[in-house]
Amino acid sequence: MKQRLSQILFSQGFGTRRLCAGLVWNGEVTVNGEVVEEPNTEFETEGLRFTVDGQEWPVFDKALILLNKPAGYECSQKPKHHPSVLSLLPRPLRERGVQPIGRLDEDTTGLLLLTDDGTLIHKLTSPKHHVPKVYEARCKHPLTAEMVERLKAGVELREPEGKPGSEITHAEGAEIVDETLLRLTLVEGKYHQVRRMFASQGCTVTTLHRTRIGPVDLGDLAPGAWRVLTKSEAA
Ligand code: URA
Repeated sequence: MKQRLSQILFSQGFGTRRLCAGLVWNGEVTVNGEVVEEPNTEFETEGLRFTVDGQEWPVFDKALILLNKPAGYECSQKPKHHPSVLSLLPRPLRERGVQPIGRLDEDTTGLLLLTDDGTLIHKLTSPKHHVPKVYEARCKHPLTAEMVERLKAGVELREPEGKPGSEITHAEGAEIVDETLLRLTLVEGKYHQVRRMFASQGCTVTTLHRTRIGPVDLGDLAPGAWRVLTKSEAA
């Protein structure tokens, strides 16, 4: 589909129509390596890449972003004690209304997906949707083979306040990486699930890091850095 450059910038979160036209007039926008100074110039949007202030952007219908969440950030849009993960994203993505798909605790690190696609958020956070998620959890005390077997067989989750609860959950997979580090795969998304599973075994989790969701792997993305999902990951 062909669209005017200022309309493209508007649809991608670069501000009001007026601001977007201003960016073009000011010579801040390039397409295919050339500065374009006429906001009404039309471009085919499919596969288009443009730069604003030197930063390159693809045109996306819906944004699907992977962030390596550092510790000390909240996933809430209205954070209480720490900055929001959204503060790690550039303004155009925030303006588009990108939100985390599910949540990680403020001290949990690693793979967080964000999108402005409400249907996708709904789908991926629904309890019916069992996307495997891989975590690396460091335990304060040495792990035992018996504990790992119990986590796989199913454990009773404590309530967040530590009271015994009635929710049963299990790890789809669990492997001991070293004396205190467990790599586990979960297919449900319960509140504080990993920490509560460990608590049910009398263990405290000292660090928790998510490395994978379904086919999407964090790879070597630096803490605090983000990237757009590839087409095949998004599919
Ligand atoms: N389980 C937890 O306990 N915390 C997270 O952040 C994610 C999974």
